[in-house]
Amino acid sequence: MKILAIESSCDETAAAVIEDGRKMLSSVVDTQIETHALYGGVVPEIASRRHMEAVVRVTEQALAEANIDKHAVDAVAATCAPGLIGALLVGVNFSKALAAALHKPFIPVHHIRGHIAAAYLAHPELQPPFLTLIASGGHSEIVLVRDYTAFEVLGGTRDDAAGEAFDKVARVLGVGYPGGPKIEKLAQGGDPARYKLPDARIKDAPLDFSFSGLKTAVINLVHNAEQKGEEIDRSGLAASFCAAVVRTLVPRLEEAVRKTQAQRVVCAGGVAANSYLRTALADMAKRTGVQLHLPPLSLCGDNAAMIGSQAYYEFLAGNIGGALQNAFATAAIGENICQKR
Ligand code: KG4
Ligand code: ZN
Repeated sequence: MKILAIESSCDETAAAVIEDGRKMLSSVVDTQIETHALYGGVVPEIASRRHMEAVVRVTEQALAEANIDKHAVDAVAATCAPGLIGALLVGVNFSKALAAALHKPFIPVHHIRGHIAAAYLAHPELQPPFLTLIASGGHSEIVLVRDYTAFEVLGGTRDDAAGEAFDKVARVLGVGYPGGPKIEKLAQGGDPARYKLPDARIKDAPLDFSFSGLKTAVINLVHNAEQKGEEIDRSGLAASFCAAVVRTLVPRLEEAVRKTQAQRVVCAGGVAANSYLRTALADMAKRTGVQLHLPPLSLCGDNAAMIGSQAYYEFLAGNIGGALQNAFATAAIGENICQKR
């Protein structure tokens, strides 16, 4: 079964053709990063307009690269939630109309389920159940994937997502948007023990975490230094911040491995591209004996291939969207966003 998938939840317009959930026939990503970098973050209305301009071109390119005529695809899928609502609506409306014109089913996909499915593309032998650490710009959760469409959230952030914290710290350090890759680069050669940064524990919720205290600690540190006219060791601060994020995420994931007796662990989302996190996860895998599945860097950030992969399993579960299928700015991973009418 060949699925044409569209992703437009934030600042990437992407299209891909995926066969049977596992084989990537094409994957095209058109990023708007340069536009939003001018403003220091994503401007929702500009994002919607850029999706509008890009979606047809990106789709045609994905079909051409897969060497498939649009009439030969078996279904059309799109990210329907969560994300910037205006941005989502462009991809959903386009994909729904295309599916209707082609007389093919339309499959709504949850963006975070998609991030997890990136691992199916990279590791063909991987099957649920497994444990996932999701670390993206909008979400940070520890999720037990019981089956392809059955999820149990075991813990997560009480405030900011990991990627959001990277982006905010990057702004304070003046390295620009998107923060993750810029902070990672700045951290190279820095001393991760240079600054003492907090890891807030949540009472009676050992698998939950918080990034807002960490973010505020960095902001205060920078502002205090500025007021006193002191020089900040920016590289050391970036390295200390990366280490603090890793210290927040990895021990909780390890605790979840212990609690669930998981055999396999997947890390998903934009922050999964972070080399400090990847190294710490590999160390954890060695310590605990779990099998670790990390998507390649090309599949960590937003793309449509992961949406096409998850769409296949949503289709098998009967999750076909109707003419009234809507987009949603927020939706928990366990929620069924499919509207059949
Ligand atoms: O998954 P994603 O592409 O979009 C969302 O669904 O949110 O994640 C984007 C986030 C951004 O906050 C970005 O700064 C972060 O992922 N990110 C990174 C790295 N690359 C991207 N964070 C840390 N290290 C990186 N190398
Ligand atoms: Zn994402």
